[in-house]
Amino acid sequence: MNQKVTVVGAGNVGATAAQRLAEKELCDVVLIDIVEGIPQGKSLDLAEAAPIEKHDAHLTGSNTYEASANSNIVIITAGIPRKPGMSRDDLLATNRGIIKTVTRQVANYSPNAVLIIVSNPLDAMCHVAMEESGFPKQRVIGMAGVLDSARFRAFIAEELNVSVENIQALVLGGHGDSMVPLPRFSTVSGIPITELLSPERIEALATRTRNGGAEIVGLLKTGSAYYAPASAAVEMAESILKDKKKILPCAAYLEGEYGVSGLFVGVPIKLGKNGIEQIICLSLTDHEKQALVKSAAAVQELVNAMKKIS
Ligand code: LAC
Repeated sequence: MNQKVTVVGAGNVGATAAQRLAEKELCDVVLIDIVEGIPQGKSLDLAEAAPIEKHDAHLTGSNTYEASANSNIVIITAGIPRKPGMSRDDLLATNRGIIKTVTRQVANYSPNAVLIIVSNPLDAMCHVAMEESGFPKQRVIGMAGVLDSARFRAFIAEELNVSVENIQALVLGGHGDSMVPLPRFSTVSGIPITELLSPERIEALATRTRNGGAEIVGLLKTGSAYYAPASAAVEMAESILKDKKKILPCAAYLEGEYGVSGLFVGVPIKLGKNGIEQIICLSLTDHEKQALVKSAAAVQELVNAMKKIS
């Protein structure tokens, strides 16, 4: 294939992302992990499925980064996942160390890549990746809003008993408990959900969305969600690889947009071959603005906590 995506971390999110990238025949895939044999074994297994799944994507597994050289995109999923009772923020110190090491290698071998960060706590890990890579803000993007919005969309579709394909939804802010689902910008075939559902039902669906990650952690007990996170990361990658210019909610480094400066926060962006091509600025109501400011403050708190670790 013409394009190459490296996925760092061959756990559930990474391996599922590799599978989706290959099966959609978007690119060749390099899967990297520190555990010997795992990325090699999973890549070989996926390659052996290729004749049945009908794709010619080439898959490589490695414990080192040489094979990742000159990737168009690097998706970073490395790090420890949440266990029941843990918040995403509890992962801060451990995953910060991991993301630092990974980013240094990735930036060295693929200096022109777009980085898609998936590891938690998401917004804080974006800061680590941007600092460590020295990449411009257009090429460091966090996967969160696509996942959180997909959860909101799934819950809205279930509530109204309509196709998920009819649902568009927007969840902004940090990828934490204070994320901001926006009912005003969430529609069913263009009809705002505020026309179809009571404020109480909308709030219930928004709350379930905010707790969406924890709901899965509570059920799985040994790890966190991976099918939907992988789908979300691959939708972002596809928009970049095909230069589709989709508008997707993602964590982006803001410099004044939405009244936020020097922080990664989830906002609608246009994703094309160069990464972030535009940040879409919406005019929010006072209530929505307050919720976004609160969410940004939670991200700021994590960034401050990281400064104390170093
Ligand atoms: C979630 C984790 C991946 O939201 O953050 O499921």
